[in-house]
Amino acid sequence: MAALPSSAAPCPPERRIMRSGSGSSPNCAPLKCNKRKVIRAMGGSVLVTGGAGYIGSHTVLALRHAGYSVVVIDDLSTGARDAVPDGVPFVEGCAGDGRLVAEILRRHRVGSVIHFAGSIVVPESVADPLKYYRNNTCVSRKLVEICVAEGISAFVFSSTAAIYGIPDQVPILESAETRPITPYGRSKLMTEWILRDTAAACEAFRYAALRYFNVAGADPQGRSGQRTARPTHLIEVACHAALGLRDGLDIFGEDYDTPDGTCIRDYIHVSDLAEAHVLALRDLNDGGTSAALNLGNQRGHSVREVVAAVGRISGRNFLVRVAPRRAGDPAELVADSTLARKRLDWQPARSDLDTLVADAWRWHSAHRP
Ligand SMILES: NC(=O)c1ccc[n+]([C@@H]2O[C@H](COP(=O)([O-])OP(=O)(O)OC[C@H]3O[C@@H](n4cnc5c(N)ncnc54)[C@H](O)[C@@H]3O)[C@@H](O)[C@H]2O)c1
Repeated sequence: MAALPSSAAPCPPERRIMRSGSGSSPNCAPLKCNKRKVIRAMGGSVLVTGGAGYIGSHTVLALRHAGYSVVVIDDLSTGARDAVPDGVPFVEGCAGDGRLVAEILRRHRVGSVIHFAGSIVVPESVADPLKYYRNNTCVSRKLVEICVAEGISAFVFSSTAAIYGIPDQVPILESAETRPITPYGRSKLMTEWILRDTAAACEAFRYAALRYFNVAGADPQGRSGQRTARPTHLIEVACHAALGLRDGLDIFGEDYDTPDGTCIRDYIHVSDLAEAHVLALRDLNDGGTSAALNLGNQRGHSVREVVAAVGRISGRNFLVRVAPRRAGDPAELVADSTLARKRLDWQPARSDLDTLVADAWRWHSAHRP
């Protein structure tokens, strides 16, 4: 553990920015790009917020494999300390704690930031929207502010397909209208707007907003995987059902306008996703412009297909019930990820359904909660 102050407590309130003698009111200092610091920070190490979580920990592995030095900040609200590989500096704290983050950026000579930290449970966001606007939008706003002040030039953000809401057309292009239907989706879209406006005002700050579709699977070498306390993602739920850790699973609706009546989603392997982050970072560091990019496999699978794959690969039978539709579930969500593939030269290698489920099953059967 790095010897930085540790604050696992919830994010502190905003400190007011006062410029002595300026006579201006607090919090209205204009955005100031710190170009001198940008030069210092270029080529430095990478700060990964939320690096003790599912996708963050896989990305830390991919970054290390690519030769980057990495530092992680995580408040361990859902992440696990032992998901961060040995030898990676770890700070327990909030990604929106400006003083703590500034100190990490300076001490570790950070040049780029990958921001995973956030709250991710869609139904919870409906029940407790302010948690999502605080932990996703407000924390990101503060983090971006500190990054600009400290001269960070490359910022990669975990966005989501949830910003599209119910799409008019599938596969979904990045140019599709963004009409999120949940506070989770809105909290992420607002962060994309913060990034877009900041990059427009501060030439040295560039970002990639990576819009993930359904992330699943586990590290093929078994070093990390999903460890959700109360799983909500289909493949993790199905693996738990196959292990007898839950009383079967529910299919929410089988009367959709799809070939087998169940919803179709685009599943992307977490290691392919992690690889895309490394490529996006490299692209920004090589002078790439700011962009929003879909990360998906461009291939849809129905809920029934996924459940059958888990049954086949695990060799276990489990109870499958049909429950009523959930509000706001579109029939089909599939990415058009041509832009990411071309721009980043990214080719998902492990995202075919059987490989993805086999990696997930190996992880879950070896790491029962
Ligand atoms: N899992 C998916 O299918 C999916 C899909 C689209 C987008 N995303 C986005 O990807 C990111 C990572 O998701 P995940 O699946 O790895 O979730 P996760 O819960 O496993 O990881 C989130 C990590 O962030 C940490 N964290 C939360 N709030 C924090 C804060 N304020 N300061 C510091 N650390 C904090 C948690 O402890 C955890 O380690 C999230 O931003 C999520 O919205 C995930």
